[in-house]
Amino acid sequence: MSKIVVEKSPPLKGTVRVSGAKNSALPILAASLLGTEDIVLEDVPNLKDVDVFCEVLSLLGAKVNRYDGGKIVINSANIDKYENPYELMSKMRASFLVMGPLLARLKHAKTSMPGGCAIGTRPIDLHLKGFKALGADIDVEHGYVGASAEKLVGDRIYLDFPSVGATENIMMAAALAEGETVLDNAAMEPEIVDLANFLSKMGADIKGAGTSSIRIRGVEKLGGAVHSVIPDRIEAGTYMVASAITGGDIIIENVIPSHIKPAIAKLRETGCEIWENGDKIRVIGNKQLKPIDIKTLPYPGFPTDLQAQFMALMTVTEGTSVIIETVFENRFMHVDELKRMGANIKIDGRSAIVQGVETLASAPVKATDLRAGAALILAGLVADGNTVIDNIYHIDRGYDGIEKKLATLGAKISRIE
Ligand code: EPZ
Repeated sequence: MSKIVVEKSPPLKGTVRVSGAKNSALPILAASLLGTEDIVLEDVPNLKDVDVFCEVLSLLGAKVNRYDGGKIVINSANIDKYENPYELMSKMRASFLVMGPLLARLKHAKTSMPGGCAIGTRPIDLHLKGFKALGADIDVEHGYVGASAEKLVGDRIYLDFPSVGATENIMMAAALAEGETVLDNAAMEPEIVDLANFLSKMGADIKGAGTSSIRIRGVEKLGGAVHSVIPDRIEAGTYMVASAITGGDIIIENVIPSHIKPAIAKLRETGCEIWENGDKIRVIGNKQLKPIDIKTLPYPGFPTDLQAQFMALMTVTEGTSVIIETVFENRFMHVDELKRMGANIKIDGRSAIVQGVETLASAPVKATDLRAGAALILAGLVADGNTVIDNIYHIDRGYDGIEKKLATLGAKISRIE
């Protein structure tokens, strides 16, 4: 089982390039099932989750060809299976996103119940509420979820929570439904907009993506498209914190600043200097950072996917910081690992109270989810000694070459088998 070893590192310096967004690439890979002609995707990040998703598509009968440099060509004209098997679903719950496209294309879809994971139970009730509203019959038995419909007819659907996955799944199902669907209280993340742009290129009729109300007019069929995946705002935010925590000065390329406003604003509150210039941002850390309070919210609020990374920063920031996690019910699994490194954190329900300490000490730790893994790497950059991180398959699911990218900035980080 490979591990990542991080030594105390000097202030990071230099330039790093952000890869395509994992949370945009995965729903777009699912949406490629809706097309009957060639789909060409570019800037797809090189991640384990992308590998698994391509396996799922092939298994469903799509032709998938991958090329160097993040290009994937997919043709789903002849997909003939509608069941995503347990062994692939259990590897990556995001493959539940094939349900909407399969229901739309084949009027049947079946996949194993997506398991919970370290950060929460991860229910799918809102996805199923949408499929039912469009006319599907749902059956849940033997750990599998099935959806089938004579035909899908548009409807008005209210999401009790602006779920990213439910918004994506329902939007994809509605794209080939008869008539109009309006999705209210929809998620507004940039990845929703990227998916809607991709679907529109295929011939879908979608308006309002990026707002809380999305209108989808169903069409007969969807064709091909060429699409480049947007940059990964969470990867960008992770490197921003890497500069802040080491008191570094780095330039991050391939960024859409408007997608990471909360990270920019909160780092400025700590006293970091941040310069924006087109698709580049420069982050200059500060040895005397100020503590900040954070509350995670659906977009455009502070992203839950940056909560662990900012907590790592606050563990070595003098003073008291309060971090409230409102999106997932159990996304503090990294707290125990950070405490093993000497962090002073108390959890009270959905709040974590962080008292900054002088310095952290290395310890054997393990990643509990991919963002927690990233937070441990960040903590290791400033901890005395060698921090050895286990379960790094979590990290490989969501970060494209993180140790190589950090090493080019001067981080002392390596992977050991
Ligand atoms: C997406 O997960 C992302 N994953 C997550 O990123 C991200 O943390 C999350 O959105 C929130 O931004 C991908 O895009 C592949 P949700 P998703 O449905 O769609 C509740 C990462 O680190 N909910 O918006 O699963 C749910 O319990 C990963 O890259 C329901 O109640 O997130 C949770 O509390 C982690 N019923 C909240 O909504 C439902 O039917 C947010 O979940 C669906 C969700």
